[in-house]
Amino acid sequence: MRILLASSEVYPYSKTGGLGDAVGALGKALAAAGHRVGIITPLYRGIREQLIGLRRVDWEFDIPLGSKRIGADLLALDVSDRLTIYFIDKPIYFDRAGIYNENGADYSDNAERFIFLSKCVAHLAHHLPLMPEVLHLHDWPVGIAALMVQHEAKTSLWENRPRICFTIHNLAYQGVFPADTFSLLNLPLGWHNPDTTEFYGKINCLKAGIACADVVTTVSPRYAREITTQEYGAGLDGLLRKRQNVLNGILNGVDYEEWNTTSNPHLATAFSADNVAGKVVCKSALQQYFGLPIDPDAPIFGSVTRLADQKGIDLLIGALDEVLDAKMQFVLLGSGNRNYEQALNELSAKYASKVGVKIGYDHGLAHQIEAGCDFFIMPSRFEPCGLNQLYSLRYGTVPIVRRTGGLDDTVIDAVDGGIAANGIKFNDPTTAGLVKAIHKALTLYDKKELLNGYRANGFAADFSWAKAVAGYELAYRW
Ligand code: ADP
Ligand code: GLC
Repeated sequence: MRILLASSEVYPYSKTGGLGDAVGALGKALAAAGHRVGIITPLYRGIREQLIGLRRVDWEFDIPLGSKRIGADLLALDVSDRLTIYFIDKPIYFDRAGIYNENGADYSDNAERFIFLSKCVAHLAHHLPLMPEVLHLHDWPVGIAALMVQHEAKTSLWENRPRICFTIHNLAYQGVFPADTFSLLNLPLGWHNPDTTEFYGKINCLKAGIACADVVTTVSPRYAREITTQEYGAGLDGLLRKRQNVLNGILNGVDYEEWNTTSNPHLATAFSADNVAGKVVCKSALQQYFGLPIDPDAPIFGSVTRLADQKGIDLLIGALDEVLDAKMQFVLLGSGNRNYEQALNELSAKYASKVGVKIGYDHGLAHQIEAGCDFFIMPSRFEPCGLNQLYSLRYGTVPIVRRTGGLDDTVIDAVDGGIAANGIKFNDPTTAGLVKAIHKALTLYDKKELLNGYRANGFAADFSWAKAVAGYELAYRW
């Protein structure tokens, strides 16, 4: 098949969270399965300098955006003969320090930036020589592209428009803007109705994607069910129930070329299921990095996360404050909400010999935490899929997760799986629930044989992208 993907984040070119990982790896895996794949994404600051082989495509955009017309260039990178990345080069929109925000504040022109991106996507879907059969859009920043394609197919001579697959990576981010933003679309006002973009008097980019796609997917089966309920539907559960016949949950995979413990430049040494001694070396290196006592016997818990309400950071801080008197250590890498950053810094000041916190973004350290920890904590209030727990499993690190979304679909607790267990789950999003789970982990740590069983099950778990690709192929054919 000829498939065109579009996303505001594509690893290794850009990433703020799992979206970048997922789209970058999906493109690679689809190409490896024999499809011809293009991925459209913005040319953010620094990308041009990093890439060898970037070529300028003889193409100039001239896109109407409200009362203006906006030009941009198109650059391309041929990763292989089946995978091409198309970068939209528009410095005033994308040559910035951040992707969506800077110093904790969203860019005030995000509507304009991502509606422009969406229009470029629709334009390329129509005119690229690739002539995609499938246009696969990811999350709100490209949601409007689905509407533009529908409109163009109705009004221009566009026979055989690509079928649109829209993937929801996170329903919490919808791209909601004031109603007058609709003028940037240059579409008849008839499109601004409760069945497409209109959302409580405003315009909603994610809604447009869900409403105008031919098939809708999200990143785990359980989350696909959850988002049709009022509790998890973030105001769109009505629409999602309406679209339930085309809604599928397809679990994300892991790019094991990137996330592996045997050939990984970020790790102090290699290790694997057959050679766990190396994991102890990684643990010492991590303790040293954070200035904690180097003690192979102290169980070390970790987290790498966006500091957002979704991730249950308040539960994490509350629970740690209750359990840190035990023999244990905790390390965290994350950034986001300023209040959480401050509270975490206070926690590490209070327990200086037990807690290490690094506020910021650090790809190498993310690998080192996954490798050096004994347990990885994800107390999410909701979690569409979650990738860190999958990385933890492959790194012999036991995940402690709340029983929600993709966390529930991927981690096996002793209650569900008996000797197949590879992690610890708790139900209620409360401090008490997490405290209990951490106590279970401390007990498990003292039962080395049992712990080794959990680790071995984790090492053996297989979340390769090939399985997810099969799911997407079905959705595309459908
Ligand atoms: P989400 O997409 O909701 O943030 P996921 O678990 O799907 O959650 O993916 C998070 C990804 O982002 C992982 O690859 C994780 O390692 C990475 N990540 C999150 N925060 C940081 C950080 N501060 N530094 C480096 N990597 C991070
Ligand atoms: C989102 C979700 C996360 C998911 C990721 C990739 O950011 O929060 O759960 O793993 O997208 O699909």
